[in-house]
Amino acid sequence: MTAADRSSATTAAAHEAPLVALRDVHLRFGANEVLKGIDLVVRRGEAVSIIGPSGSGKSTILRCITGLLRPQRGAIRVGDTQVDALRSEAELIALRKRVGFVFQQYNLFPHLTVLENLVIAPTRVAGRDRAAAQREARALLDKVRLSHKEAAYPGELSGGQQQRVAIARALAMRPELMLFDEVTSALDPETVGEVLTVIRDLVQEGLTCVLVTHEMRFAEEISDQVYFTEAGVIVEHGPAPRIFGQPESERTRAFLRRALGEGARTAPARPAPIPEALPFERLRFAL
Ligand SMILES: Nc1ncnc2c1ncn2[C@@H]1O[C@H](COP(=O)(O)OP(=O)(O)OP(=O)(O)O)[C@@H](O)[C@H]1O
Ligand SMILES: [Mg+2]
Repeated sequence: MTAADRSSATTAAAHEAPLVALRDVHLRFGANEVLKGIDLVVRRGEAVSIIGPSGSGKSTILRCITGLLRPQRGAIRVGDTQVDALRSEAELIALRKRVGFVFQQYNLFPHLTVLENLVIAPTRVAGRDRAAAQREARALLDKVRLSHKEAAYPGELSGGQQQRVAIARALAMRPELMLFDEVTSALDPETVGEVLTVIRDLVQEGLTCVLVTHEMRFAEEISDQVYFTEAGVIVEHGPAPRIFGQPESERTRAFLRRALGEGARTAPARPAPIPEALPFERLRFAL
């Protein structure tokens, strides 16, 4: 799909209900108010980037969308699911079948081959036929350019290759929405490009994507909408050319100056932080 096609698809989608809608979302951890009234909309087929300083609440927003965190106030909708109202584990698992989530740590199953990593959830969780799941897994490996690695184990792959397997594994559940949380931050600089290429392809195919990224040039290139967060609020949002070209807020300008400055361009990938007690088991669809 060309950018123009995507743009007209997005214009058409503008008349539909958005795929994701957050309204006045507030979330605190104890006394620490982390989200202070977030409004965010993602339309079908759009790529939306969330940018902003460390600790501003970007990952927390993504975790709210998957139901991993429950806000104290506000509403979150994904399709026709009112996420903030979900209570049972079964309902949350059903949501996570529809929403692919890829983050810095790949969390592939180390004892399974690449192919098996892609086949396990579709067969065990979605109950698909094994031969069909394998066919689909091979097509996905082709898409992420890793067909030649289907028999390898994760430990035999580079970081960039493992991350591409993690993306293919999420796609194997045929999600209607993909969330990417700094998926290139832990990678060697030379493998960042191959992962971004895969994401670019997905966006161009029209998959609805929300990306948290420090790769500003990438966000500018592929995003339909960009949200700039700081200290738990959306400072401003709009089409990528406006946010990057003519930001309204001095805070956005200052952030972009720093992020696009010399330091950011030459900085090596940030070391992976210690994960903050993320309930990975729940992300794995209780396999
Ligand atoms: N599980 C948790 N328990 C307590 N505080 C948390 C938890 N997760 C996040 N926080 C706090 O919430 C705030 C926002 O964190 P979040 O991870 O959303 O930031 P971020 O914008 O993704 O930052 P970064 O760019 O460093 O990934 C931070 O102050 C963080 O310490
Ligand atoms: Mg984060």
